[in-house]
Parts: sequence; C-alpha cells; structure tokens
Amino acid sequence: MITIAIAKGRMQDDALALLARADVRLSDEALASRRLALIDESGEYRFIFVKPADVPVYVEHGIADCGVVGRDILLESEADLLLPLDLGIARCRMVVAAAEPEVMRRDFGMLRVATKYANVASNYFGARGIPVEIIALSGSVELAPALGLSDVIVDLVETGRTLKDNGLSIVEVITESTGRLVVNRASYQLRAPAITALINALESAINGAART
Ligand code: PRP
Repeated sequence: MITIAIAKGRMQDDALALLARADVRLSDEALASRRLALIDESGEYRFIFVKPADVPVYVEHGIADCGVVGRDILLESEADLLLPLDLGIARCRMVVAAAEPEVMRRDFGMLRVATKYANVASNYFGARGIPVEIIALSGSVELAPALGLSDVIVDLVETGRTLKDNGLSIVEVITESTGRLVVNRASYQLRAPAITALINALESAINGAART
C-alpha cells in the first residue's frame, strides 16, 4: 500500500478532487469521518491528513511515501524530498505586505517582519541587504502591523481578502506557490512501479483539467 500525506486546510479539497480524477478516491463514508488515516476505495492507498508543515516531515522519514503540500511550505522546510509534479492547485502568492508601503523605504533601524515563514523572509531580505528582525508567529499574521508588533508581514495571499480586511496591501511579491507532489527518495526507488503509475495518473488528470 502507498501512503499519501495530505496537507490539511486550504489545499485539502483540491488535492482530494485531483486524486479522485486520477482514480484514487475515498468513499463518501470515509470523507465524512473525522479519522486522520483513511484507505481509498481500491485498498491500494492510505491517506493521512496532517498539518501542512508536517507533510515534509512524514515524507522525509518514509512514514508516507508521497505527499501533497504547497511550495510555500517546501521553501520553508529543509527536508530532502523528490518533487516530481506541480499539481497546479491552491495557487497563491507569497508577499510582503504593510499598512503603509513607505515603511519599506525608511533607511534607519531594522525592519520588523512578522511571519509564519521565517526562513523565506530571512533569505528574501538578506539577499537584498535589508536588516530585519524576524518575528515568528503561527497564524493570524495580518494582525501584527495594526497592533504594532511589526512593520510588515510576509504571508500568503490567495484572494487578497484577508489583507484588505485588515488594512494591508501588497508591497512586494516574493514568489508564487502551488500544490506539489513530493516523494520520499527511498520509496521512489523501492516502489517505483506504483509511484510512477500514481505520477502518470496525476499528470493525466492535470492535463485533462487543463483541456476542459
Ligand atoms: C492563508 C494566509 C492568509 C490567508 C490569505 O492562511 O496566511 O491568512 O490564507 O487568503 P486570502 O488572500 O484568500 O484572504 P491559511 O488559510 O492557510 O490559514 P493559516 O493562517 O491558519 O495558516
């Protein structure tokens, strides 16, 4: 059996819909349950549902053979994984946002950056020679500038609604993110036929969706 770790949350529904188009599907009964480990209808795949940041951990340790997770998480993670496929789901941008864009142009002191993506933010500003203090948060990052915790945030933007409703706007776009298939290195060798079949089925599902 192949184990697939799915990032819970914003990408979960799109990931399951794409897998279903690749003929890897959960029954309605399984989908309705709150179990975090489920077997698909064919009995060939086991799904585990974990926090996005934990998908690379499960896959790197070989507990899961494959995973579906956003590029944002992979940029932040240091896990050594194979990345055979861009699934094109949950497309969003990683941005720098602020209440007052001028804050980026000031030339004194350290820019205070609140984010869930400490590594990405630190690399981004480091490459530009901008001194920053990274304030690591676990969520609701959009609150930080209004409450005086930070000057800017580095976060994901999909519709832009969360930024707008919290009085923030995009200052710079760092990169784009979409859902990716990740594969454990050993699984890719040891279970090559099954994993290649899954990659091919997902590729066909993606191309089919692109044509319609
Ligand atoms: C992301 C991100 C923003 C929001 C942006 O959070 O951190 O808060 O989505 O979406 P929008 O542009 O469509 O408003 P997510 O839903 O992944 O939850 P989290 O903050 O718990 O990680």
